[in-house]
Amino acid sequence: MYCRAILVLSLLQLLCLAYGQLHPTTPARYQKLPSLREQAAILDGWRDERVANIPALLTKYRMDAWLISQREHAEDPLWWSVKYATEYAPHRRTVLLFHTNTSTLAGQPNPLRWVDNTGAVWPELHQVLERYRPHRIALNTDKFIAFSSGLHVGEYEALAEELGERWMERTVNEPMLAIEYVAARVPGQLDYYRDLQEITWALVEEAFSEKVITPGVTTTEDVEWWYREKMLLLNVTTWNHPRVSVITPESFPGWSGTKDIIHEGDLLHVDFGITAMGMNTDVQHMAYVLRTSQGETDAPQGLKEGLKSANKMQDIVLEKMQAGKTGNEVLSESLIEMIDEGIRGQIYCHPIGDYGHAPGAVMGFTNLPYFVPVLGELRILPNTYYSIELYAYSFVPERNETLRFRVEENAYWNATTEQWHFVRGRQERFHLVNARAEYTPTLFVQS
Ligand SMILES: *[C@@H]1O[C@H](CO)[C@@H](O)[C@H](O)[C@H]1NC(C)=O
Ligand SMILES: *[C@@H]1O[C@H](CO)[C@@H](O)[C@H](O)[C@H]1NC(C)=O
Ligand SMILES: *[C@@H]1O[C@H](CO)[C@@H](O)[C@H](O)[C@H]1NC(C)=O
Ligand SMILES: *[C@@H]1O[C@H](CO)[C@@H](O)[C@H](O)[C@H]1NC(C)=O
Repeated sequence: MYCRAILVLSLLQLLCLAYGQLHPTTPARYQKLPSLREQAAILDGWRDERVANIPALLTKYRMDAWLISQREHAEDPLWWSVKYATEYAPHRRTVLLFHTNTSTLAGQPNPLRWVDNTGAVWPELHQVLERYRPHRIALNTDKFIAFSSGLHVGEYEALAEELGERWMERTVNEPMLAIEYVAARVPGQLDYYRDLQEITWALVEEAFSEKVITPGVTTTEDVEWWYREKMLLLNVTTWNHPRVSVITPESFPGWSGTKDIIHEGDLLHVDFGITAMGMNTDVQHMAYVLRTSQGETDAPQGLKEGLKSANKMQDIVLEKMQAGKTGNEVLSESLIEMIDEGIRGQIYCHPIGDYGHAPGAVMGFTNLPYFVPVLGELRILPNTYYSIELYAYSFVPERNETLRFRVEENAYWNATTEQWHFVRGRQERFHLVNARAEYTPTLFVQS
């Protein structure tokens, strides 16, 4: 019996490990990314794969063409997901016409591309349209969704004048085109996304240690700037200034960290992510500053219980989260399950990928805990990455306080399980700042 119990347990754990839902057993290491030149070749490969999906995407949304027109420094956000690695802002007026690759345009470049500052693009565009005769031409003119609204109003007016009634009456707003194109992943990205996650974890593990924090001396802002400088050395950047806080019943600062000197016994929190290879991470972890002066060697039990509740919430969200449901459906199902489990807290998950906040269905916002108009009504797309972001509200007897246990991890879609799994497990125990520990330098490894 005893043996079987052990076997069952370890099989379960193995399963969890395979699904990436556990705290990694080994410390994270700073992964070395390929040289910029190698990265460019890799990124262009992904770009070509993604762009090759556009004809099928147009067909799915019953479009014949997708027209993007933009001027240098007033680009459509779609540009950043269709450009080549060595391209920066689109020059002059850059016009892209994506098509379905059938009939008259089969074998033509896709997209057709014009870079022009003389007006020569318009007669040529007319010729192409005359030949191709698209019935439905998508324009990025959505009122509500940023990624689908990249046609600037002046550029829209220029298009309307140049194309005339004949073609303008065939134009359509289809926000899902840009959402799905930008959010969808290609398989090769995952290996590098794992490296990005490991770099992110390695940063948190070093920041939330005695290597960076001296209790009574170091401030939360010192730690924030440590992240910024360290990222430079790692050849990665960020999409958001790191936010480091001391967690108290009052502190939920939202868009900034707190401004505190870090002391023994503090519960610390960071919200940050990195940017590299056209992808972004976004994690929130917590740390405990051991009272080494009192011989403490682990975090108080009440804090551990709070983290457990947050982990339970992550399980609930991942279980409810299925492609095809709306963000609001997953949100309300998760909130109901939390009530059944006796957990209080809040959920605010979002897609991640080309952007830290990528396009697609969200589950909650910090200020919209139960229902999100527009973005919450979108259906969750398979083949995307998600950031599972939430807090559990938990009473800590040792402190006679109720605290928010705020965690966030990034998950990828697995086509076999049809579920999202954490890319590098999740935080299940606190990072510990131990002023008595010996310093061991973190090694770089070649990935
Ligand atoms: C569309 O046409 C281009 C140019 O001929 C080709 O490279 C591309 O593979 C085609 N895409 C599809 C989905 O057929
Ligand atoms: C960062 O880039 C520089 C210049 O290519 C390189 O020498 C260094 O090893 C890189 N550091 C890491 C951690 O990849
Ligand atoms: C715990 O806090 C509450 C108010 O927040 C207070 O009324 C109570 O006396 C405290 N209990 C202890 C044991 O300090
Ligand atoms: C997806 O899940 C299956 C089944 O658990 C597993 O064999 C496979 O390695 C997973 N794929 C990825 C990319 O993690």
